[in-house]
Amino acid sequence: MANFFPRWTNPLPLKIAVCLGVLGAAVVAGFAYYATPKAQRVGYQPSQPIPYDHALHVEQLGLDCRYCHSFVESSGHANIPAANVCWNCHQHVAKGSPKLAALRSAVGVDVDHIALEGVAGEGHSIEWIRVHRAPDYVYFNHSAHVNRGVSCVSCHGKVNEMKVVYHAKSHSMGFCLDCHREPEKHLRPLEEVYNMNYNAEEYLAQNLIEGADGERITTQIDFGRHLKAHWNINPKESCSTCHR
Ligand code: HEC
Ligand code: HEC
Ligand code: HEC
Ligand code: HEC
Ligand code: HEC
Repeated sequence: MANFFPRWTNPLPLKIAVCLGVLGAAVVAGFAYYATPKAQRVGYQPSQPIPYDHALHVEQLGLDCRYCHSFVESSGHANIPAANVCWNCHQHVAKGSPKLAALRSAVGVDVDHIALEGVAGEGHSIEWIRVHRAPDYVYFNHSAHVNRGVSCVSCHGKVNEMKVVYHAKSHSMGFCLDCHREPEKHLRPLEEVYNMNYNAEEYLAQNLIEGADGERITTQIDFGRHLKAHWNINPKESCSTCHR
């Protein structure tokens, strides 16, 4: 059969196809990346069934994170408190507030705190909307961090100032690895892990901590290095640490 095209054109359709393919894949990948919640989750701030205010309860009333997130020290998962934890106070405080309607219905009472027929004792739970969620293929553990001198504030920002919780940090793989490579930027004494207003320089001005050379430690980095050596902290970077 006659060849209508000069020899050099033969690979051209292939090249065009390959170029278009690569371009297409890049567009799809780029779109998938920017269109998925992963790229958009910083700032994610759903409105909750009760306008619960961390700034009020933590900063003004002085409640410790563990009063409500009571498993954070002992378990991989931090828990959201059950309705009865709120009810401890709110059966007395702001009893009839319209903002607490979902709480009353969870414990099974009406606005005058009269038990609702058929609901008392078995009210439905409050449907809080989850703000932070690692993908299924990521293994994460709270207790492994908070018991090693890593504060909530390093991963969740200043929750104590949030009237409504939002996703403050990216929680991308790079975010995790940055700290696993240089934990000294974040480590603090264990008794300060739940103090969102901790400041290393102030702490070191009030507490005399000396390094191995006998010199007084005054900066976060030197203090972090000191704690890292002292507690033998070595966060792993192997893939199986977080993907198992
Ligand atoms: C009086 C109870 C209470 C206290 C004290 C409290 N929290 Fe919460 N926290 C809640 C409730 C209820 C929610 C779920 C509703 C919401 O997101 O606002 C929540 C949600 C959160 C979330 C988001 C969870 C998610 O869905 O991803 C974080 C992070 C958090 N709290 C951190 C803290 C930190 C840090 C402290 C201490 C500085 C603290 N909380 C103190 C009750 C409490
Ligand atoms: C240690 C006691 C205590 C606990 C526990 C507690 N609260 Fe409160 N809460 C208060 C106080 C005190 C106020 C301020 C009341 C006021 O301003 O009249 C308040 C205010 C509120 C308000 C605003 C009420 C209004 O009408 O302005 C909401 C909503 C609320 N709390 C929700 C919750 C939820 C949800 C929980 C459980 C996750 C909870 N609280 C746990 C003591 C508590
Ligand atoms: C090293 C980072 C890191 C630290 C430190 C940290 N968190 Fe988290 N937190 C996360 C990640 C990641 C998630 C999502 C976990 C998941 O989906 O399994 C999360 C989720 C949560 C949730 C939702 C429930 C859950 O377990 O998924 C709450 C509540 C919470 N954190 C509270 C806290 C509190 C309170 C502290 C401090 C006492 C704290 N966190 C410290 C990274 C951290
Ligand atoms: C601010 C610092 C910091 C951040 C951010 C951080 N880590 Fe860690 N991580 C640590 C430290 C410190 C340890 C403890 C290392 C040790 O005990 O030697 C640790 C330990 C771990 C462990 C080992 C737990 C075990 O069971 O042995 C896992 C898994 C882990 N981190 C996953 C993550 C993931 C996933 C993220 C991101 C969502 C993350 N970390 C973010 C500091 C951090
Ligand atoms: C300290 C924890 C940690 C370690 C170590 C780690 N990863 Fe990840 N990785 C994550 C987290 C968290 C995510 C989810 C990121 C997100 O949701 O944005 C992730 C996501 C991924 C993804 C999906 C990427 C994407 O953009 O969807 C791949 C692939 C991956 N990791 C491979 C690896 C490999 C290969 C290694 C070893 C060289 C490794 N990871 C080590 C925490 C880790």
